[in-house]
Amino acid sequence: MDIDINDKEFCLFQRLIYDESGINLTPTKRELLKSRLMKRLRERALTSFKEYYQYVTEEDATGEEMVMMLDCISTNLTEFFREPAHFDFLSKKGLPALLENKRKKREKKIRIWSAGCSTGEEPYTLSIVLSEHIGATREWDIKILATDLSTRVLKKAMQGLYLKNRIKGISPQMLNTHFKKGTGSFSDYYQIQDHLKDMIVFRRLNLTNDDFPFKGHFDFIFCRNVMIYFDKETQSELVSKYYKHLAPDGYLFIGHSESLAGTNNKFRYVQPTVYQK
Ligand SMILES: C[S@@+](CC[C@H](N)C(=O)[O-])C[C@H]1O[C@@H](n2cnc3c(N)ncnc32)[C@H](O)[C@@H]1O
Repeated sequence: MDIDINDKEFCLFQRLIYDESGINLTPTKRELLKSRLMKRLRERALTSFKEYYQYVTEEDATGEEMVMMLDCISTNLTEFFREPAHFDFLSKKGLPALLENKRKKREKKIRIWSAGCSTGEEPYTLSIVLSEHIGATREWDIKILATDLSTRVLKKAMQGLYLKNRIKGISPQMLNTHFKKGTGSFSDYYQIQDHLKDMIVFRRLNLTNDDFPFKGHFDFIFCRNVMIYFDKETQSELVSKYYKHLAPDGYLFIGHSESLAGTNNKFRYVQPTVYQK
């Protein structure tokens, strides 16, 4: 059964999604919105977008349908070692400078935030880079916070189980060290090993929240291919919050097609898509 979404209904969802997630759906995204929400209508046995809007905004007191609606809307494309220049920068410049500085100050904590981590490939890549750089030494207390709006992708990320075609860019040496090959009905899968998992904490967090509940500062923030879905106003607010939550000299990494141009920010430009506090 095909159900049409009229102008008024599209505007209602456009506003709701913007208010709840910052995701800015332009009128060109109408068919996309329709096809993604159709799954929810079917699941709820509803026959119009108007009914679904009422259900999400008024009838569902649990708030669960809102979470599921946002799960359907978000685009979660990601991969291991996506935009490799960032990880090169991290191992050749960012990390050596950070470790030297921390040693001088006798600090042990390294804190990284993968904001908009999707199904986990980005934070696991970070944990591989850190693990390769630092080795098995217990000198450092490393934590990577990995957050996303979508509970569906977070569940997948926490499992850390990837089909073999998802790990094709990873060298055999890295595969051996950081993954376990599945057996039996999992023979097409690779499982992330515990020494990487132990570095990461996964949490649901909406980046458009007014405040983030962090006590300390991050040394690196990765927010890549997320702000592209936001308008300039939302981007500006988020970039200011990143500035606030970074340690002095800390770095912000953004996606290849994103830029901080047009956002009111105090960051120093380092190289394309890399900024420093
Ligand atoms: C395309 S993925 C990017 C994944 C990864 N950072 C990368 O570059 O490969 C974008 C992610 O941003 C998340 N996202 C979108 N709006 C968000 C919001 N308001 N708060 C938190 N995460 C959000 C989506 O759920 C999605 O998983």
